[in-house]
Amino acid sequence: MPHSVFIIMASVSAVPASQASAPSLKVSANDCSSNGTRECISSFKAADVVIELAPTHKPKPDSTDLVFGTVFTDHMLTVEWTSTGGWQRPHICPLHNLSIHPACSALHYAVQLFEGMKAYRGADNVVRLFRPMLNMKRMLKSAERACLPSFDAAELLECIRKLVEVDKEWTPHSDSASLYIRPTFLGTEPSLGVKRPSRALLYVILSPVSSYFSTGAKPVSLWADTKYIRAWKGGTGDCKMGGNYGASIYAQHEAVNFGCQQVLWLYGEDHQITEAGTMNVFLYWINENGEEELATPPLDGVILPGVTRQSILELTRKWGVFKVSERYLTMADLCRALKENRVKEMFGSGTACVVCPLGQVLYRGQNLHIPCLGDCPPLASRLLKELSDIQYGRTPSDWICLV
Ligand SMILES: *Cc1c(COP(=O)(O)O)cnc(C)c1O
Ligand SMILES: *[C@@H]1O[C@H](CO)[C@@H](O)[C@H](O)[C@H]1NC(C)=O
Ligand SMILES: *[C@@H]1O[C@H](CO)[C@@H](O)[C@H](O)[C@H]1NC(C)=O
Repeated sequence: MPHSVFIIMASVSAVPASQASAPSLKVSANDCSSNGTRECISSFKAADVVIELAPTHKPKPDSTDLVFGTVFTDHMLTVEWTSTGGWQRPHICPLHNLSIHPACSALHYAVQLFEGMKAYRGADNVVRLFRPMLNMKRMLKSAERACLPSFDAAELLECIRKLVEVDKEWTPHSDSASLYIRPTFLGTEPSLGVKRPSRALLYVILSPVSSYFSTGAKPVSLWADTKYIRAWKGGTGDCKMGGNYGASIYAQHEAVNFGCQQVLWLYGEDHQITEAGTMNVFLYWINENGEEELATPPLDGVILPGVTRQSILELTRKWGVFKVSERYLTMADLCRALKENRVKEMFGSGTACVVCPLGQVLYRGQNLHIPCLGDCPPLASRLLKELSDIQYGRTPSDWICLV
């Protein structure tokens, strides 16, 4: 069904602060590696965005009881790429179903990746993005691993900023809800060879979401077993590639069958603690040397480099009140520390929840109880407050990009 749309050429708007601070992240024409591909364009440009506004607008939902990722805004961003023509102009257009060749490489071989970030509306009515350049950088890294073409991170960020601006009214008027942003990148190669795709589609959709804690912060229970492995050295666990998540659903079901809410992903002979569900993991404890320490596993290839993880490390290092480490943590370390009453808190981190207290771990038939003073213990509470104060503009910060 063709949309009747208004076609508006986007004017070249003022360069946002995010772009001004981004030169070090500029990506050169590095997918034009084969000499002589004259038509290969290294990146689309935000100044070329074509905006087609939707003729009608959907009613906005009540932001207090949304099921995550079920409601979408009126518009989306799409950018197409071909190996011969390079990047096409970006389009902001009415949200629509995609038309994809049935041989599409994203569908057959999971040549695909995504990002997850949010726009937050402050009490001052200003809409903010939280460290979005880190998401753009991570997306480029995933794209390289997936053999999808490169682009200029600052240009995509500016396209996303424009999209959020077009659908700004969809950003909930609430300091607990937000607008989830889902950049997606597909190989759309219309043939069955297992190879670098000759076509690709990058798009971004927006979804208003309720607070993760709309029913209050409740500690999560975890099933820890080495039966399933989320990620391995040399694999793709450090990239947000769809295949990682599709393959985790089966284990998630088994966790639920064991009466747990999520999987605590272990790795290696020594049962290293890696991630909880789709969150990074932090242990706040008195370590084996008697030091007060906040610890999270190092980025050794099996850990997804979370923006929230990095922010928690940077914040707590700035506080300087306890040791902050990226180090290996095994189940044996945790069990011993629990026995010796050295565990203060354990929590997951991610864009969805910021921090999420972990309450128990089912491991080798034993239910390990993690201390969880109240439902959200002091360190998790302080991090939740400091990070959401930045996100909702209550604390000024250079981590924020204005929409
Ligand atoms: C997205 C994700 C995280 C959290 O990353 P954030 O950038 O903090 O949202 C952690 N682990 C996995 C497996 C993820 O996919
Ligand atoms: C590209 O090709 C031209 C001429 O064919 C050659 O002079 C140049 O050195 C090549 N560049 C690279 C990077 O291979
Ligand atoms: C898009 O696809 C969904 C599910 O297949 C369908 O319900 C919906 O009507 C489609 N939308 C349009 C505009 O065709």
